[in-house]
Parts: sequence; structure tokens; C-alpha cells
Amino acid sequence: MPKDAIVILREDHKEVRALFREFENKRTTKDRKGKIVRKAIELLTVHTYIESEVMYPEVRRLLPDLEDDVLESYEEHHVADLLVMELSTMKPNDERFEAKTTVLIENVRHHMDEEESDWFPKVRNGLSRTTLRELGGRLLEAKQRAPRSPAQPSALKKAVDAVVS
Ligand SMILES: [Fe+2]
Ligand SMILES: [Fe+2]
Repeated sequence: MPKDAIVILREDHKEVRALFREFENKRTTKDRKGKIVRKAIELLTVHTYIESEVMYPEVRRLLPDLEDDVLESYEEHHVADLLVMELSTMKPNDERFEAKTTVLIENVRHHMDEEESDWFPKVRNGLSRTTLRELGGRLLEAKQRAPRSPAQPSALKKAVDAVVS
């Protein structure tokens, strides 16, 4: 039996949070910050993909009361996508690298906090353990095919859809 979908998403968040903390540590070198941002971009690209391709549409379908939360989440992801795309073209020595990363961290933390404290509990209440495990299996499957960089066509298409829709 695969893991519960919420457990999988929480584990992703934990990994992202650890990178953010390391980025903010005063002792972290510029070179290391560049690597941290590259890794964070990869994790966020995969995580965004599995949430927007599997988790959000399924929750929207199964729990129509959560429609507004899902729509807000798409918008928050969209803001993060734009920052991620811009950051992915920057180097740690660029003047705006540090500031843009700080804004990305603020945005993503706010979004993850909201998911963890508000949205996940609602989803857990609304869906059975079997459904959550089935969804977990689909999230793991989606991870296999997920883009790993924002420049990959499947990631780009999603960003474009968000702009034109
Ligand atoms: Fe999300
Ligand atoms: Fe998330």
C-alpha cells in the first residue's frame, strides 16, 4: 500500500523547509546558496507538478466545498512559478539573487503553512484513508514523470496556462 497523499506532500515540504533554513543561515556561503537554490527549484518544480496535476484536481472533484482553497492554491503556486523561473536564470553573484530568493522563501513558506495548518486537515477529514492512499500512489507515479526544471516543456506549459487562463 502506498503512503497517504498528505504524508507524501508533508515530507516534500519538510525537505524544502530544511533548504530554506540553510539558505538563511549566516554561515552559508554564496557558492552553497547557489546549490541550495538549484535544489530548491528542482524540489518545488516536482512538488508543484504533483499537486497541480493530481492532488488539487482530485480534491476539487471529491470535495467541492474546498473549491476556494484550491483556486487560491493555484494562484499562490503561480506566483511561486514566476519567481522560480526568474531565479533559475540567475547566478548567486547577481545583485537580485538574494532578494528574489528571500521573496520566494516568504511566499512558499506562507503557502506551505496554509496547506499544513488549514487545507491538509480539511482534506484528511473529508477523504477516507483508502482514498488518501490511492491518491498517494498517484502522487508517487506523477513524481516519476514530473519535470525537474522549470525550463522543461511540461513545467513551462503549466506556467503559460496559468497566465492565459
Ligand atoms: Fe501547494
Ligand atoms: Fe504543498
